[in-house]
Amino acid sequence: MIDDKRLIEDYLPIEAISEEASREKSVRKGHISTLHLWWARRPLVACRAAVYGALVPASRFVPNGGSNEKKKSLGRANSARFVKSLCRYPSDSKPDERAEIDRAVQEAQRHILIAHADRLTQELTDWKAGSCPKPGWAEEFRFPGATVTTEDITAARAPRPRVLDMFAGGGAIPLEALRLGCDAHALDLNPVAHIIELCTLVYPQKYGKPDRTVHGMTGPKNAKGEPTWGGLADEVRYWGDWVLGRVRADIGDLYPFILDPQIKAKSKPAVQLGWFKDHDPEKVPDGYLMPIGYLWTRTVKCKNPSCGATVPLVRQTWLCKKAGRYAAMKMIAPRGKKEVHFKVIESQSEKDLGFDAEAFSEAGNAACPFCGAVSDNDYVKAEGCAGRIGRQLMALACTRPGSQGKVYIAANDIPGAAPDEKDIQRRIEKLCRESGLTMPDEPLPQRGTLGFRIQPYGFQTWGDLFTGRQQLCLLAFSKAIRQAQSTIVNLEGDKYALPISTLLAAMLDRLADFNSSLCVFNYTGGRGVVHTFGRHALPMVWDFAETNPFNFDGASWVSAIEDLPAGLGDADMPLLGTVARGSATSLPWSDARFDVVVTDPPYYDNVPYADLSDFFYVWLKRTVGNLYREHFSSALTPKKAEAIAEPTRHGGSLERAKRAYEEMMAKSFAEACRVLKPGGAIAVVYAHKTTLGWATLVDALRFAGFVVTEAWPMDTEKPGRLRAQNSAALASSIFLVARKRDPSSKVGSYETDVIPQLGTIVRERVETLWEMGVSGADLVIACVGAGLRAFTKFARVEYGNGEEVPAERFLAEVETVVLEGILGKLSKTVGSKNGQTTLAGLDPATRFYVLWRYTYRAAELDAGEAIIFANGTDVELDGQHSLTQGKRALLERKKNKYRLHDYAERGNEHGLGLPHEDGTSASAVDILHRILWLMEHKPLKIPEFLSEAEPSVEQLRLVAQALAGPALSGGELSDVSSTAEQSALGKLLANWNTVMVGKAAVEDRRTGQQTLFKN
Ligand SMILES: C[S@@+](CC[C@H](N)C(=O)[O-])C[C@H]1O[C@@H](n2cnc3c(N)ncnc32)[C@H](O)[C@@H]1O
Repeated sequence: MIDDKRLIEDYLPIEAISEEASREKSVRKGHISTLHLWWARRPLVACRAAVYGALVPASRFVPNGGSNEKKKSLGRANSARFVKSLCRYPSDSKPDERAEIDRAVQEAQRHILIAHADRLTQELTDWKAGSCPKPGWAEEFRFPGATVTTEDITAARAPRPRVLDMFAGGGAIPLEALRLGCDAHALDLNPVAHIIELCTLVYPQKYGKPDRTVHGMTGPKNAKGEPTWGGLADEVRYWGDWVLGRVRADIGDLYPFILDPQIKAKSKPAVQLGWFKDHDPEKVPDGYLMPIGYLWTRTVKCKNPSCGATVPLVRQTWLCKKAGRYAAMKMIAPRGKKEVHFKVIESQSEKDLGFDAEAFSEAGNAACPFCGAVSDNDYVKAEGCAGRIGRQLMALACTRPGSQGKVYIAANDIPGAAPDEKDIQRRIEKLCRESGLTMPDEPLPQRGTLGFRIQPYGFQTWGDLFTGRQQLCLLAFSKAIRQAQSTIVNLEGDKYALPISTLLAAMLDRLADFNSSLCVFNYTGGRGVVHTFGRHALPMVWDFAETNPFNFDGASWVSAIEDLPAGLGDADMPLLGTVARGSATSLPWSDARFDVVVTDPPYYDNVPYADLSDFFYVWLKRTVGNLYREHFSSALTPKKAEAIAEPTRHGGSLERAKRAYEEMMAKSFAEACRVLKPGGAIAVVYAHKTTLGWATLVDALRFAGFVVTEAWPMDTEKPGRLRAQNSAALASSIFLVARKRDPSSKVGSYETDVIPQLGTIVRERVETLWEMGVSGADLVIACVGAGLRAFTKFARVEYGNGEEVPAERFLAEVETVVLEGILGKLSKTVGSKNGQTTLAGLDPATRFYVLWRYTYRAAELDAGEAIIFANGTDVELDGQHSLTQGKRALLERKKNKYRLHDYAERGNEHGLGLPHEDGTSASAVDILHRILWLMEHKPLKIPEFLSEAEPSVEQLRLVAQALAGPALSGGELSDVSSTAEQSALGKLLANWNTVMVGKAAVEDRRTGQQTLFKN
């Protein structure tokens, strides 16, 4: 038997991976995410860590010599060093970094191949010994020998490690599996995700490299003098330019350059349609500005019938809001007129602007600038549904060639700035007639669908999300992409038309994302127009920004030609992925095929993927639907089989929606279990921050036949530096690791099988991870994950009376044991001298306080998680005698959140820390808070207080030390307490003997000095 504990089941340097993952999120250029938007993509480095950790044994890094303990801890330190060097994302500023990472990747591939060859050999040995059936791969590859070598694998005589992601989305996990030399399989239900996966896992690998044997447009000429294939990225750039030229000729006149108001020449010649034919298309003509954003407000007719003016619904009019430059539009309502206009005002400070740029409509309620009548939100909705919400151009944001910053010009100052809508409609009709294309008239999801808030304002179809000019623009690009497709087929054949057209279609999707009427203007800088999906939702936008698809500086087709092909570079690797579309509830693969499953399932109602993706589906259908008929035959993306808790799909019932989601997850994991080899591992990314919501997933895994073995929290969203700030570093995702359960482990006894093992597992994990510097919430999560092993190794766990222990119950039990373990560890670390006085022996309120501070620092906690935490520490959160009761409550509840009070908020209470009426002592934290407060405000009262409170001084010292932080190991020490409390604790500990024995206080009182506390 080989030792097959995987690295992911032993130790991962989660802090370093999290920091790198957060940094990766800020890299845009050259990242696969530039290929196409997909919601909640996982950072590549976190996926790499998961795939590597799931395939490589923990023993790989353990040295030979030394004691067992020493070997283990050196092994962990070695593996952490390697994983850190592997899981990095190259930054543009460090050119050497990519080569270093590539070297680490090659080394990782070697580790994986060696481990895999050993496992395949073991599978053959087990089969030959008669303990299992013949492995499927041995049949498939007709493998003749008894030992598999890495050479067998690289020469394709035996399979590479097969990795499955059955909820693959944007393809981050399978891409990392490919990078690590695995045979990666990606499955997703959604056709848009499927296209993204092809562009990430298949096309760059298949067509990425230049090929002199193939006809192309960008490679060197062949013997016949014809250009050859220059590699996918260059070919896509070429055809992107080709499309641009066509569309510019078609609709370029709708985005004219703007006369630069700084140029005073009396008559500047207008730049005519066709100008680009004779001029450099990449150059703005002298004396002109390039518009990059057209800023619009939606409007309604005034609700007051006797007024009838046009009411702008704009919320705010900022154009630029940066230190030293403030620009906004001032609304002018000329007397006797019925329509406002806007004036651009600039100043050096916000105050000098002279008006409030944010004092306009609120939540769709707007006052008429002429008569003052309020067009309330209901009226606006009704007008919208009657098709009477209009729009008015307010201003243009432009760039001036050769100079930094944007130039803002009021629409009123540019004659004919707003396009002629009737002309545009005529042109749309003509285009559709000639090309056979249609407007995206597919319906939006029904009202009330998660994340969608635009339907009540009259938006009915996907086409309604775009203005006339935007519709025409996107249709014109679609038409040109279709023309490019047939031209490529004629020149290069179908095979090459497919990847190029698909990537051009992805570029169109990107343009649509930046060119809908739900985009806003970024007045703090950047590219100007912010894309539609800043969030996983479509909220109503009252003042929107329309981009110029031809502009060179902001979001446009021109920038897509640069950015999108660059993203292909990240995916350019020799191995090809296998991409399938289907439901995870019914996987199209045979039993025991995969070595590992690493997957990131949807989480309840977090992201309405299918509904959101229809935004792109309707355009993909028009651009490349003919190339993927099997995926684009339906009006919209498939919804029925989607794993999501969406009430509108269940007659409005949230309960039924949740149940449906849970059933799908259970089925999906049962399928994962079926296709996984008996010795295989599964790692599931879980989007829930805390342990509260684990029950469903843990149950789904358990019922599917898995044992949960570990959990690793990863904080992939926040920039690294934020992790150290005064809020709990709650993980944005958790990797739960599981193995197939031994089928003979059926029923376990809670008392005799589970509880003793739980204690052993948790003690080992607390000890190990503490030593590796894991602390706070990360430590709690990782230990709870490991503790679940004791339960989930049984298909069913029963109390002595035969009753089943439910998942919530055992999660709470695990959390309790983990918190006890952490308290024990804290006691030792803060120096429990006699071993008798420990933090574990504290009163419940103080234990609760210490553990909360340790785990969540000063952060607020959602009620659900706070309840679990309270159960684990044996306190009540609400009700009589609970922690939220009384003037000096330890805890505050605000709506659905709880927050701890510190000494400054409660120490002023006279009776705080004194014995209760029945003579029992106050809790240690109350005494400590009162001492800290007295120390700051009335130091001379301390001796008297101490003699009344009669605390256990040693215990109080332990608590003070635990809360002060320095005694705790790990990197996040300074945040264990809130800053003010921590510095007060530091002061107290530095003067401990003086304060607690009280001599100096008495002395000071006698001499009238206040020299009690040294800093
Ligand atoms: C959290 S996302 C995966 C994101 C991915 N890891 C990434 O980095 O882009 C979950 C995915 O599950 C897909 N999905 C939902 N229901 C599904 C089902 N029944 N079968 C397969 N995929 C499904 C969604 O379309 C979505 O892409």
